[in-house]
Amino acid sequence: MHLSLLSILLAIAASLAAAVPAQSWSHKPSQVYETTDKLPLANEGNLQVHDPNIIIFDDIYYLFKGGINIPIFKSANMSGPWEKIGTVLNGDSIIDKGNRSRSWAPTTIEKDGTFYCYYTLSSPGSRNSAIGVATTTQLGSTWTDHGAIMNTGAGPGSDVYPYTITNAIDASFIMDQESGQAYLNYGSFWHDIWQVPLADDLLSVRNAEHPDAKQLTFLPHAKPKPEEGSWVSYHDGYYYAWFSHGKCCKFQNGFPKRGKEYSIRVGRSKNVRGPFSDKDGIRLLDGGGTVVYASNHGTVYAPGGLGVLPGSNDSTPDILYYHYLNTSIGFKDGQAQLGWNYLNYEDGWPVPRGGQNATSASPASIYTLPGWSSVTFFVGLWFCI
Ligand SMILES: *[C@@H]1O[C@H](CO)[C@@H](O)[C@H](O)[C@H]1NC(C)=O
Ligand SMILES: *[C@@H]1O[C@H](CO)[C@@H](O)[C@H](O)[C@H]1NC(C)=O
Ligand SMILES: *[C@@H]1O[C@H](CO)[C@@H](O)[C@H](O)[C@H]1NC(C)=O
Ligand SMILES: *[C@@H]1O[C@H](CO)[C@@H](O)[C@H](O)[C@H]1NC(C)=O
Ligand SMILES: *[C@@H]1O[C@H](CO)[C@@H](O)[C@H](O)[C@H]1NC(C)=O
Repeated sequence: MHLSLLSILLAIAASLAAAVPAQSWSHKPSQVYETTDKLPLANEGNLQVHDPNIIIFDDIYYLFKGGINIPIFKSANMSGPWEKIGTVLNGDSIIDKGNRSRSWAPTTIEKDGTFYCYYTLSSPGSRNSAIGVATTTQLGSTWTDHGAIMNTGAGPGSDVYPYTITNAIDASFIMDQESGQAYLNYGSFWHDIWQVPLADDLLSVRNAEHPDAKQLTFLPHAKPKPEEGSWVSYHDGYYYAWFSHGKCCKFQNGFPKRGKEYSIRVGRSKNVRGPFSDKDGIRLLDGGGTVVYASNHGTVYAPGGLGVLPGSNDSTPDILYYHYLNTSIGFKDGQAQLGWNYLNYEDGWPVPRGGQNATSASPASIYTLPGWSSVTFFVGLWFCI
C-alpha cells in the first residue's frame, strides 16, 4: 500500500473509530456470518484455491490458480478429485514486479490450438502491477513467458491513459460474438474495472500507445473502491460483466460488518463494451451490481474471485465457480475453497442453483443483500491476492 494512502486510511479509521462503537470493527463470528437459506450452498470443489480459473478442454476441467509459478490441476468432475499436472511458469516471471515466483489470479483461454494464460504480478495494496501472458500449445508441457502486456504504477507504458489511474491486476477475457475482437478486462480498487481491445496475436494491447479503453464499473462515492476480479461472459444475446465486491482477505485479522465481505455481482449489456446495468437498471459505472452469490447458511463466507464456464444447452448449463471460506474450516486466505453452482437464467438474469444435478432446475430468486450500512469503510488489507 502506498504510504500516503495508508496514512489517509488510518486517519479516516481514527475519526470513524471515535464515532462508531468498537464492536463495529471486529465483530464476533455470530454477528458477521450471513445465515440466509435463500441462496444455495456451494457445491464443494474439494480444492483449496484463491481466485480459481477453470477451462474445459477435451471434456476435462483444467484449473489454474495463483501460487508458485501458477499451478495447473485437472479433473473429470468439478467436484474433483483434482490432480496437479504442473505449472505455467518454469520459474520466476520475466516481469520484475511483486513476487516474481508467486503470480496472482490467472485467466487462461484457448484459441486455435494455443493456450494463453494472463497472470498478475503485484503486491498487496500497491498499484505497481502488471499483467503478463504465457502461451503453450499443449497443457502440461512447457509454456513460453511473453512478459508484460500492461503495466500500471511503473514500467513500460505505465504513463499511458488509463494505466495512469488504474491497477493492472485480475485479467479476464471476452470475445465479441460477432466481430471476433478479443478484449482484456482488468482492474481493482483504483478506478475499478476497465476493458481494452487485444491485438490479433492476443499478446499485446491493440494500439498500445492510445488504447481504446472503456471503463466497466465504478463506485463513485466509496473510498477505497472495493471492486475487482472481473469476468465477462456471454449468454443468449447478452454480455454479463461480473465482479467481486467487498473485502476479500485476511479475515483472521478481523471481520467487516455483515455484507461488507466479498460477494459476486453482475450487470449486463447487449454490447461487449457496455454500458452494463444491473437488474434495477443502475449502471455499473454508477455503483450498480446485482448480487448473484454471497455468504449463506452460516457456512459459505465471502465468495468471490469468480469465473463462468459456458454451457451449451439445457443439459449442460453455465457453471459459476469461485472461492469461498467455509466457516467451519477457517479464515486464512490459504484456506479458501473451490465452490461452484449451475446457473439458471430468469428473465435473462443469472441465478445460482443448488445441487449437482444438471438437469433438475430448482431456481431461487434474485437475492437482496441485507442491512447495507452507512459505514462503507473497513480498514485493513482489502486487496485481492
Ligand atoms: C461429479 O461427482 C459427483 C459426486 O461427487 C456426482 O454426483 C456427479 O454426477 C459427477 N458429475 C459428473 C459430471 O461426473
Ligand atoms: C514469494 O512467495 C513465496 C510463496 O508465498 C514465498 O515462499 C517467497 O519467499 C516469496 N519471495 C519473495 C522474494 O518474497
Ligand atoms: C448438450 O451439449 C453437450 C456438450 O456440448 C453435448 O454433449 C450434448 O449432446 C448436448 N445435448 C443436447 C440435448 O443437445
Ligand atoms: C464445510 O466444512 C464442513 C467441515 O469440514 C463440511 O462438513 C461441510 O460440508 C463444508 N461445507 C461447505 C459448503 O463447504
Ligand atoms: C435429476 O433431475 C432429473 C429431472 O428433474 C430427475 O429425473 C433425476 O432423477 C435427477 N437425478 C438425481 C440424481 O437426482
